[in-house]
Amino acid sequence: MNTLQLDLTGIYPFVSKDTVYSWADKSKAYQAALHAGTGLGNDFLGWIKLPSEISEQDFDAIEAAARTLQQHCDYVISIGIGGSYLGARAVIEALSPSFAPKADAPQVIFAGHNIGEDYLSELVSFLRGKRFGIINISKSGTTTEPAIAFRILKALLEEQVGKDAARERIIAVTDKAKGALRSLATQEGYQTFVIPDDIGGRFSVLTPVGLLPIAVAGFDIRELVRGARDMSALVGEDVAFEQNLSALYAAARNSLYQAGKKIEILGNYHPKLHYIGEWWKQLYGESEGKDHKGIFNASVDFSADLHSMGQWIQEGERSIFETIISIAEPNTTLRIESDEANLDGLNYLAGKRVDEVNKMAELGVRVAHIDGGVPNIRIVLPKLDAYYIGQLFYFFEKAVGISGYMLEVNPFNQPGVEAYKKNMFALLEKPGFEAETEAIKARLK
Ligand code: PA5
Repeated sequence: MNTLQLDLTGIYPFVSKDTVYSWADKSKAYQAALHAGTGLGNDFLGWIKLPSEISEQDFDAIEAAARTLQQHCDYVISIGIGGSYLGARAVIEALSPSFAPKADAPQVIFAGHNIGEDYLSELVSFLRGKRFGIINISKSGTTTEPAIAFRILKALLEEQVGKDAARERIIAVTDKAKGALRSLATQEGYQTFVIPDDIGGRFSVLTPVGLLPIAVAGFDIRELVRGARDMSALVGEDVAFEQNLSALYAAARNSLYQAGKKIEILGNYHPKLHYIGEWWKQLYGESEGKDHKGIFNASVDFSADLHSMGQWIQEGERSIFETIISIAEPNTTLRIESDEANLDGLNYLAGKRVDEVNKMAELGVRVAHIDGGVPNIRIVLPKLDAYYIGQLFYFFEKAVGISGYMLEVNPFNQPGVEAYKKNMFALLEKPGFEAETEAIKARLK
């Protein structure tokens, strides 16, 4: 089986291999706690077995719903935020053609991940007169950003096709019983998919939250899940620490953190990986940033960001390390031709593939960053396809579970996300928040 590779050699000038391997016993104990459900946050561990628990019927139901939307729609709006948004976007952007919509499927457009009035008004103008449908995704069913987007787009769709036809073009993905979206879907008679209770938003990409929009966009969800399933065996609790990629990554980043490396950037050399970085930021930032601890996660797109953040990375405060996702073999081939006049002086590259230049950029940056005091972790995907993205997702999910326990935090809650919501509701005078409204108004006088 081909698998993603993890290369830690670029961290050993900064932390010793012995230091990384000294986590082996703890890692074993933390994996055992994850699998037995005896650690912190143990009511949110459904993602561990998820890839092997998705049944044929589950796939069939998602694919059938996707086909219905594909038949009726040229555009499907996937509404959601955070874990109800980033996984699907990461896969769709990674696998879609960069400059033209995929020919055989509707274009998936994302909404509900911001409250920008221009964004929503422009989306409404764009969709006017077009054949569109909606996937409304919210586990709690009460999140404000997607609820606003849904109210506006539902009204547009009903105005355009009537209430009955709109019902055929709207699917809700939410909790089995709780929340406003569940009751709204029941009242309106929408088809629904359930987000399991024991899977938190940022771990939900392999539930209908991610799988439905990905299937609508025309990508192979079975391959995605197969990749995750294969990786779940490779990083299982019985796999020795030295071979367990997730355990090694977790140990490496905690060793670096303890050595003063408080910032981790996830870098890529392919623009299609941008949203993988966004998904990863949520997974790691929301899982570990608590109790006034945790690595700060950011993501960068190279080589573009070498011309902006490159200076800081090379010579700023030495509190940073990088994890680079590298793709061994691109899906296409493009060579740089020789040019008789050679006015641009590029003939020394003639005959080379663009990817050879990209790989030398990557290697040159790695050496420069290590020389400059930036430890380097490399994750190599054999190629960019649904199967290897599935591997990557599960690799990162397992690693963050172990890593969070190494940090001694609960990696499966997100209490800090509530603070802004409380203030926003108080400022908007939401019923039930009267005391908070009074308090915040007094503070802001
Ligand atoms: O990881 C999480 O739990 C959050 O980021 C949620 O996914 C996000 O807040 C959206 O929540 P919901 O799906 O309930 O609308």
